[in-house]
Formats: sequence, structure tokens, C-alpha cells
Amino acid sequence: MPLISGLLPRFAGEQPFAGLLVAACLHVTAETAVLVRLLRAGGARVALAASNPLSTQDDIALALARDDGIEVFARAGVDRPGYYRHIAAALGDGPDLVVDDGGDLVNTLHTSSSPLIRRALDRVRGGCESTTTGVIRLRRMAADGALAFPMIAANDTPAKRMLDNTHGTGQSVIDGILRATNTLLAGKTVVVAGFGACGAGIASGAAGLGARVIVTEVDPVRALDASLRGFRVLPMAAAALLGEVFVTATGSVGVVAAEHFDLMRDGAILANAGHFDAEIDVRALGAAAIVVHEGVRPHADAYEMPDGRRLLLLAEGRVVNLVAAEGHPAEVMDLAFGIVALSLAWLAVNSEKLSADVHAVPADIDAEAARLVLAAMGTEIDVLSPAQVSYLESWRIGS
Ligand SMILES: NC(=O)c1ccc[n+]([C@@H]2O[C@H](COP(=O)([O-])OP(=O)(O)OC[C@H]3O[C@@H](n4cnc5c(N)ncnc54)[C@H](O)[C@@H]3O)[C@@H](O)[C@H]2O)c1
Repeated sequence: MPLISGLLPRFAGEQPFAGLLVAACLHVTAETAVLVRLLRAGGARVALAASNPLSTQDDIALALARDDGIEVFARAGVDRPGYYRHIAAALGDGPDLVVDDGGDLVNTLHTSSSPLIRRALDRVRGGCESTTTGVIRLRRMAADGALAFPMIAANDTPAKRMLDNTHGTGQSVIDGILRATNTLLAGKTVVVAGFGACGAGIASGAAGLGARVIVTEVDPVRALDASLRGFRVLPMAAAALLGEVFVTATGSVGVVAAEHFDLMRDGAILANAGHFDAEIDVRALGAAAIVVHEGVRPHADAYEMPDGRRLLLLAEGRVVNLVAAEGHPAEVMDLAFGIVALSLAWLAVNSEKLSADVHAVPADIDAEAARLVLAAMGTEIDVLSPAQVSYLESWRIGS
């Protein structure tokens, strides 16, 4: 992770988080450990909870707690009450800054009736959100006047969405499906629900492996984009009849639902890439099945329908790339977390100037992160000449 490694000496010298407590709710993976160590090197005390009960790598949690003095509240496979207990514990002392991935930490801060967490809320100066689903929730909170402090939408920078959502998710979701099923994608019909940043990456990854890709969408512009890139666009009710592999990446709920399970062919594979396990209606799938054969392969359960068809649900409908594979490659998280770290350092200085709203990452931070990644790749780019700058800044020069 060269970007973060490059920031280490800078943060160690500048101490942007001296005396501050940062509470983070992130997938507890090796890449997260690198971010957490950077925050620590920058002077922060860090409390870390998991942002998904299935994605915690226990060895990483242990190493961070034992070797790095991080207060870690995470264990793989913890149940729902335990998951929220962990988040509450990470908020315990009242953090100065928060880092969230999906919004559960910020949501807990704003909705908990515990006096301890209410006190913690008063202390928070601001934070960063790392994923689309979390940013959507934050915008709703801000619109309702419910957000109590400024949040930076670290997810929304052009560089992050390109590298992480499109290329990172595109590759690692396919990786998760392949590890969980060992299926051949070439020649298969893959249905991708949602052609946003993630769905576009998954669709082109599957197509690159020789799959026939069908896209479902609700947004006409995205649907047109998918169509112009050569993908067949259909409503889910029509795609359900044709698909052999289904991947949801919408950030919405019930995208693959009871009426679709009836239409699917025997052996259809169901996987979710969206943040929450709500995109495939797993409860309806369970209700429709006469028996569930759990663990037919690691991270794959076969739901047997009354007519004998079996539908294979991966990762219990949770983020397949994090549960069945290892999430994004480190290079992807390097940029995503580099933007989080730089934004957080900026926030430590500027939070008082910001309203309790959702704010964009300052454009120079996005450009700086992209420049550092390019430098690490050994890629050079051109620089505008003075003549080009004055041409672009002038409106007097005609054709
Ligand atoms: N698995 C990962 O590693 C990973 C990484 C980044 C983001 N995410 C998550 O993936 C989800 C999608 O993120 P994104 O950045 O692509 O969002 P996005 O907003 O760019 O794209 C979502 C797309 O889904 C479409 N959509 C919404 N409801 C739909 C429906 N019912 N049927 C079909 N299409 C529908 C929207 O029109 C949009 O085009 C979010 O939950 C996000 O948090 C996961």
C-alpha cells in the first residue's frame, strides 16, 4: 500500500491527530490494519469495530489489539446484538473523529438511547464515510436535519469510485463467486442488478471472462449506458428466466425477490455485492424452500424448492467479495483509505468551519491521492504548459 506507506513519515512528523480519539467501523482486514496504524502514527488513539459481522479477519483483530495498542471490538461470526454491542463499545469514550463504512456507527451515535452514547455524540467533531450506502443514509439524515456533525463523503471522489467501486468490486466480486462455486463463467448468462459504479465493474469483469451479461436497472441513463456498452438490458422478471448467475449491486432492497425465485432455473447462483444483505430477499428464499442444504461448499447454501430445483445462495446474501474472497486487493484499499486518512487529517483542522452536513472530499485531496498512486505505479503524466493554462483560462481566444 504505497500511498499509505508514503503518508506514514508525514503523519508521524505532523501528528495531525495528536490527542484525538478516532472511532472506526470498518471491515477488519489487513488493509484496514494498515490504515489504523497510519492513524495511530499520526497521534490518534483508535477504537475499531467491524462494519460487517462476517468479514472480520480474527488474526488481524488480534494483532491490532496485541501489537499496536488498538482497542478492537470485532470477532468473525458475531451475532447481531454482539455486532451492535461492539460498535457501542468503540464509541464508549466519545470519539473526536469517526470513520464509518455503511453508516452503522453514525446511525448508532444518533439513535441510541444509552446516556453514554448520547454523551459520545456531543463530542464528535466530524468523520468520513467510505461507501455508497452510508453516504445515501447520511444525505437522508442531513435532509431531515438529524445529522449532528459534518461528514465527508470519502466514497464519492471520482478516483475512489473508479478504482474501488468499479475495478476493485468488479474483480473481487467475481473472485468471491469463483471461490465459492468454482464455476466457469465463460458462456454463462450473468445477470447484474444495478449498473452503477460497482455493477459496471462486475458486468465488464464477467464479460471479460466470456459470460453473456444481462443488466437490470431502474435509472434510464444508467440503463442506456449499459445498453451502449453492449449489455442486454431487461427487467428482473425477464432476466430471472435466463440467468445462471445473479449478482446484485444496487444499494436497494428486495431486488431479487420471491417472484423471481419461482422463475429461476435449477442451479442458479445468487450473490450480492451491495453493502447490506437486503438485496436478495433471503427470508423469502428460505420461506420458498422445502429444505436448505447448508454449506454445500464453503459460503454456499443450496435452497431446494418444492419442484426440486436448487438455488445456490452465496455468503448468506452478504457482500460476496468480503465473505467468500478477501475483499478488494490492497492497491484499491490503498487509494480508498489514503483518501480517508487525508480527509480525516483535513477535518481535524477544519471541522469547525463545516456545517453538520455531508461534504465532498476537497478536490485537491482526490488529485493528490491519484498522483501518489500514479507515482507508486511509476506512471508519469503531462503537465499543462503556461500557454495551455492561459488558453484554457481565456474566453477571448476563438476558434
Ligand atoms: N462489495 C463491495 O466491495 C462494495 C464496494 C463499494 C460499494 N459497495 C456497495 O454496492 C452498492 C452499489 O454501490 P455503487 O457505488 O455501485 O452505487 P451506484 O449508486 O453507483 O449504483 C447503484 C445502481 O443501482 C441501480 N438500482 C437501484 N435500485 C435498483 C433496482 N431495484 N434494480 C436495478 N437497479 C437498481 C441504481 O439506479 C444505480 O444505477 C452499495 O450498497 C455500495 O455500498 C460494495
